Amino acid sequence: MKTFKLSNGIELPGIGYGTYLSTEGSKGDEAIRMALEAGYRYLDTASFYKNEEEVGKAVRESGIPREEIMTASKIWKTEMGYENTLKAFENSMERLGFDYLDVYLIHWPYNELSNADWKETIRETWTAMEKLYEEGKVKAIGVSNFLPHHLDVILNDCKIKPMVNQLELHVGYMQTVAVEYSKKHGIVIQAWSPLGRKRIMEEETVVKMAEKYKKSVAEFLLGFLYQQDIMVLPKASNMERIKENLLIDDFTIDDEDMKFLLCLPQIGWSGEHPDF
Ligand SMILES: NC(=O)c1ccc[n+]([C@@H]2O[C@H](COP(=O)([O-])OP(=O)(O)OC[C@H]3O[C@@H](n4cnc5c(N)ncnc54)[C@H](OP(=O)(O)O)[C@@H]3O)[C@@H](O)[C@H]2O)c1
Repeated sequence: MKTFKLSNGIELPGIGYGTYLSTEGSKGDEAIRMALEAGYRYLDTASFYKNEEEVGKAVRESGIPREEIMTASKIWKTEMGYENTLKAFENSMERLGFDYLDVYLIHWPYNELSNADWKETIRETWTAMEKLYEEGKVKAIGVSNFLPHHLDVILNDCKIKPMVNQLELHVGYMQTVAVEYSKKHGIVIQAWSPLGRKRIMEEETVVKMAEKYKKSVAEFLLGFLYQQDIMVLPKASNMERIKENLLIDDFTIDDEDMKFLLCLPQIGWSGEHPDF
């Protein structure tokens, strides 16, 4: 499995486990424990997911040394601003029960329509993120759902560039401009909803392509991103699917099929856009 090196030298695994809705119902941290047992060593959570307690518990009780399991969390829109960010981080750390965090991201940018002071809010939030990084409380800092005009607010005025940008990316929704712009600035890309939250899994084109490569649809969709040097964060709830999603680096999509897939009309978009 390849790794993705951040601008500060830290290496992220090519695949992480997405925890959004993975702790719903009465099962608590069961899916996260299964993911660790299956071999995932990167967990993606957020204060918004309301499962940092379960993630922290699964990590602490796994028997795996803490430093071998990277954990990412995110600051929610309502937690932004300088002092708010520092407080939100402490709250997340308390829920996780950790003494440091591996990756901390701004979950969504504010924009002009929702907040007239959106640029100032992003700048203040980023200054707090830089402080947390410089104090060693978090090993890497980054953003999520930042398009080039949101990234510019930070890039034009920062000490430390974002190291990660986590975007909705899957066959049928590739946000090429945001991906290319981030990569140009040395930012590692992570894909959220890499399976399009199942919306694209029954698309005829995708099913046929997966058959051609003798892969399951999930493996094929994840391999498509991974081959483009995009870290994938699938969420699955049972051991079979959790393990299946790890089987993404034993095939290569040929150039012609890759171009075809990259030029498909939009399918499976979540409908979530940072500016609207
Ligand atoms: N930064 C952001 O704004 C943002 C937004 C959304 C998500 N995320 C992150 O990205 C992660 C993944 O995104 P997501 O949860 O929205 O969607 P996803 O990973 O694209 O899709 C999850 C769905 O696919 C199913 N699935 C997983 N593996 C499968 C397989 N091998 N075969 C068939 N079905 C399979 C799951 O079913 P079961 O659960 O029933 O197994 C679940 O219904 C989240 O958990 C979260 O960590 C970030």
